[in-house]
Amino acid sequence: MSGTTREPRPANRTAREFEKVYGYPPEGVWAAPGRVNLIGEHTDYNDGFVLPFALPQRTEVAAARRADGMLRLHSAYVPSGVVTLEVTGLDPAHPPQGADRWTGYPAGMVWALLDAGLPAGGADLHIRSDVPTGAGLSSSAALETATGLALTELYGIPLTRSALAVLARRAENAYVGVPCGIMDQMASACATEGHALHLDTRTLEQRHIPFDCASAGLRLLVVDTRVTHDLADGAYAQRRASCRAAAESLGIPTLRDLPYPELEQALGRLTDPVQRRRVRHVVTENERVARVGELLSAGRLRETGRLLTEGHTSLRDDYEVSCPELDLAVSTADAAGAYGSRMTGGGFGGSALALIDVDAEPEVTRALAEAFRRAGFAPPHVMAAEPSAGAGRIR
Ligand code: GLA
Repeated sequence: MSGTTREPRPANRTAREFEKVYGYPPEGVWAAPGRVNLIGEHTDYNDGFVLPFALPQRTEVAAARRADGMLRLHSAYVPSGVVTLEVTGLDPAHPPQGADRWTGYPAGMVWALLDAGLPAGGADLHIRSDVPTGAGLSSSAALETATGLALTELYGIPLTRSALAVLARRAENAYVGVPCGIMDQMASACATEGHALHLDTRTLEQRHIPFDCASAGLRLLVVDTRVTHDLADGAYAQRRASCRAAAESLGIPTLRDLPYPELEQALGRLTDPVQRRRVRHVVTENERVARVGELLSAGRLRETGRLLTEGHTSLRDDYEVSCPELDLAVSTADAAGAYGSRMTGGGFGGSALALIDVDAEPEVTRALAEAFRRAGFAPPHVMAAEPSAGAGRIR
């Protein structure tokens, strides 16, 4: 409880900052990563398949219980100080707005735990993160997941990682008001180091497929276009609605229930050309997840490249969620020698990924900088991504 545990001075920076803010040391520090989706885009809300992996970048939450039912939130990035809320007063009908909007993620997580009838309570939290925000790399899922893990472990709530991810998604859908699927929270909660997470988003069945680029002489670059996206924007919800409508017209529960071999025949039964394109993307994308999964399992990493670029074309032309910066990142990386590349995440901005030979990194990075400069776009931020560990307690 707050003020009752006295530990030696903590070494972790987030813990140190917690102590500065609240005047006593935290009971622990929990971390959850951002994610990159290798393939399987806009399939999760269609009950389909995804193949993300966790980034080394993560959000840390230093936390301690409070006996008085108050939730105090502090972020290393928000100068306005500690935000104090009453746990029993958390209300999804009145999510925080404006400068305090960020508190909706941790507060929503606490609300989701309580709403599920779980015995969470008050807490002091301090948050620090190196997951880029607005880059399509799931900084929100990282914050929800780290908060959820902190609260469940502090209050001795036995939840599986999948169950935690489900509640984190509920926080985002119902409290923050973003209609996302389950992929990001599952990746942050369940991914393992050196593996991609093959996830059936209907059953939440997981397969951890070894994904070791380095020993194959390969590198995955993440190209943050610095174009910010906002999933709360109507376009994401519109895509969901049009998939739902198409499934209804086809008489199936979700587009996951349309097998790839039956795609052409089903397209013939849809009259709306937009719905036809959306369906073609979702069904071919599920098929690409299966094929990339098989190639990874067989250690044939380079051969996944072609499917990545095919996936991008489908997102650009059929699903229409790309943007000029993402298209330029993909065409430039491919022309500079990448095995394949694609936008990753919800789209309309954010990041692309490119699978390259380790040796090609300087050339691909240079080509990207040059192409963006010529197009008059802000310089992209390029980093290498290694499949890293999912959420956990770090002290
Ligand atoms: C966002 C959402 C995910 C998923 C992707 C698109 O990242 O949070 O649930 O729908 O877009 O694949």
